[in-house]
Amino acid sequence: MQMRHGCGTLLSVTAVLASFCLMPWLASAQANGGQDSMRQACPGDESGLKLPSGFCATVFADGIGHARHLVVAPNGLVYANTWSGEYYNNTPVHSGGFLVALQDKSGAGKADVIERFGETIQSGGAGGSGIGIYKGSIYAENNDRILRYALPASGIVPNSAPEIVVSKLPLGGDHPMHPFIIDAKGSMFVDVASATNACQVKNRQPKIPGADPCIELETRGGVWRFDANKTNQTFSPAERFATGIRNGEGFAIDASGRVFVTQHGRDQLHTNWPDLYPGDQEATLPAEEVMLLKSGGDYGWPECYYDPFQEKLVLAPEYGGDGGKAVGVCANKLPPAAVFPAHWAPNAMVHYDKKQFPARYRDGVFIAFHGSWNRAPYPQGGYNVVFQHFSGDHASGNCEIFADGFAGAVVSPEGAAHRPSGLAVGPDGALYVADDVGGRIYRIVYKGGAAGGGAVTPCPSATAPAGTVAAAAANPPEGTHPDAGAPLPDGVTPEMIAVGDRVYHGQLGGAAGAGCHGANGTGSPVGPDLSGKKWLWSDGSFDGILKSITEGVPNPKQYRSPMPPMGGAQLTPDQLKALAAYVWSLRR
Ligand code: HEM
Repeated sequence: MQMRHGCGTLLSVTAVLASFCLMPWLASAQANGGQDSMRQACPGDESGLKLPSGFCATVFADGIGHARHLVVAPNGLVYANTWSGEYYNNTPVHSGGFLVALQDKSGAGKADVIERFGETIQSGGAGGSGIGIYKGSIYAENNDRILRYALPASGIVPNSAPEIVVSKLPLGGDHPMHPFIIDAKGSMFVDVASATNACQVKNRQPKIPGADPCIELETRGGVWRFDANKTNQTFSPAERFATGIRNGEGFAIDASGRVFVTQHGRDQLHTNWPDLYPGDQEATLPAEEVMLLKSGGDYGWPECYYDPFQEKLVLAPEYGGDGGKAVGVCANKLPPAAVFPAHWAPNAMVHYDKKQFPARYRDGVFIAFHGSWNRAPYPQGGYNVVFQHFSGDHASGNCEIFADGFAGAVVSPEGAAHRPSGLAVGPDGALYVADDVGGRIYRIVYKGGAAGGGAVTPCPSATAPAGTVAAAAANPPEGTHPDAGAPLPDGVTPEMIAVGDRVYHGQLGGAAGAGCHGANGTGSPVGPDLSGKKWLWSDGSFDGILKSITEGVPNPKQYRSPMPPMGGAQLTPDQLKALAAYVWSLRR
């Protein structure tokens, strides 16, 4: 991934890419980029991030909403897309539009002008993830569309109505987001991710085979290519560029124009196939991947997943797999260019093409790992930004942890204070990171000193062990049961509740309620709050809760994916009652 500079060659990457050289004002704005920030430091250095020595970060903006991806215009203006809805428990959104323009007028590493634009809840919008810049326009995902907003000659937000570039992108299911990248010629590569975990006939249910053929692949589970120069394109199976990619949220383009995409690997190998995969493999399989995109390429989802221990694609249990030995059709699928530990959730990627950071950061990509729920009850991983060196079109060695400490004290989907979700490089070489929990934008610069030759923190290998079960630590017995003194339902004892606590946190029986309902039962993006504020399926009595857990929820009312009976495990009648007693005791 060598970089080249100048208007004769391709500038690289981020969730952006523009033919900036065609735009004189853009080119001149970029001309001295890189020099100013060599002198920059981070007043206050209050970000709380752990960075390699020589680097520092400012909180560029905070509380701007669920910031997903972001881009930086050649004049240094930062634009972010924010999202809303189920992923965020339908919490209220900012007024004034889902898109945010941020300007640092004083040069202190903080946005002092923040303006919102684009669709609003009132106009039927929900926001989105994808955002890019091409030929002086902002391109942004909103609901099922990618819209184009011409940037104004003065001011920081567009002042004309958007044009529709693409419409009717598939929504619904597990992955309704549409991140994208635009290359120098205007090819717009769009993530149209899978609606399901593994194309099962019944999504995420235990021991249910995969649909064969997986019809979903006609319209999901791949990367689609559109033309950023054209308006009013409509999504159809015909524009599919590459297939077999479950959820490719992060894109980067290197100096030679190659497009790379990240993949969030499939979930629930142990939960749904406990006879084939021991509990710890829920947290260690499959590897997350970066793929080199090839026209017509098939990367294997849903029939295959990447096993980092054997260093190959193997057959998934839904398609006749035997727990990792059989390869079958996977021998003919395209392998990854780089792999990372399971369930780290690579949400964004950017190739570093500026000179502000030391030279060692120019031969690879930064990746923002959002972190996930599916490693539970083992400790979560990711929630960081890493750097991965490349040699040619393949990873060179393990990645390095570049920025860490986003989550704070509790590293879980419901407890993390911040989760990295977007990345962009500014014209001056600063690296921006978007967080979709606290709505924070971080700005990282190199202030000189030891980096370059300084110590780096290696990522754990993709074959690192799962660790020890950790979820119970997040649920101190004295802290989470305000109702403990209230009369217990008939037949329920404190001992049962204690056993149920262990079942809920995956220490007994193989169920992992904490993975979907949160370590303390207050809900997560994939399962509702169980603390009794509102019940969707019963009156909240012990018997009602027992019934919900025993039968599962095949057709959720408010969440995307079903709950398998008994949380996907085979529990004994006593364990089931204990689990129901524990959930009952979570009432607040
Ligand atoms: C120990 C395991 C589990 C326990 C004790 C548990 C408990 C429950 C209960 C009591 C309900 C009914 C809530 C209500 O009436 O409002 C429920 C619903 C639900 N659970 Fe679980 N659960 C477990 C595992 C899981 C897992 C592993 C998932 C994710 C794959 C999940 C996802 C859901 C969903 C999506 C709903 C329905 C929400 C809706 O209708 O929109 N649960 N769960």
